[in-house]
Amino acid sequence: MLSTKAFSAGRQLARAASSARVGAVRSKHTVPDLDYDYDELEPVISAKIMRLHHDKHHAAYVANLNATEEKLRNAEAAHDLAAQVALQPALRFNAGGHVNHTIFWKNLIGEKNGGGQLHACALKTAIEQKYGSLETLSAQVNAKTAAIMGSGWGWLTFNPATASLDVITTANQDMAAAVGHVPLLGVDAWEHAYYLDYNNVKADYFKNIWRVVNWKDVAQRYDAAVAKHRAA
Ligand SMILES: [Fe+2]
Repeated sequence: MLSTKAFSAGRQLARAASSARVGAVRSKHTVPDLDYDYDELEPVISAKIMRLHHDKHHAAYVANLNATEEKLRNAEAAHDLAAQVALQPALRFNAGGHVNHTIFWKNLIGEKNGGGQLHACALKTAIEQKYGSLETLSAQVNAKTAAIMGSGWGWLTFNPATASLDVITTANQDMAAAVGHVPLLGVDAWEHAYYLDYNNVKADYFKNIWRVVNWKDVAQRYDAAVAKHRAA
């Protein structure tokens, strides 16, 4: 028979193991730190927008994503299919909000640190082959993104179906990956991304954002997408 002390220790071990299992399953999403200061992107995007956008808007998507996943786990445990189905719109919206913004922060960098500069690389060659020039590409992205009715994103993607670059838009927080594309560069067309700086002149935000594109990051995403496609 176990002593009281041994029994207590065993119970603690069991609790720790159970807690570890729960922890492994219930890993929470977190807002990634920016690689740069809030004022890095000025004057294209102000520090005020960056603080709100990163610390409040992105944080809200992450908090709501974690809450939705918790509800989904409970619904799954209860074998409640109706509840699981009802949670899908919230999962789609908040997962997209987290994933899209995580890409967006990496896609940007200040002008003084190389923003807007696309040097010779496979991506530059692919852009010039398909669109003629970076200016033509940016005009196409801007035109398509400006045509979004309501909120959404403009994307430069790698389209595995055609093994080439593509320009698409997604509504609300829908992910490019959810429609089969590999996102390379995202342009956030939500009002929260520009309104404090540009008011209703959205076209100026779209025009200026190319000055702070981190082409090094975009090119790395392109290289990875092409390599994965060739290996498939
Ligand atoms: Fe946003």
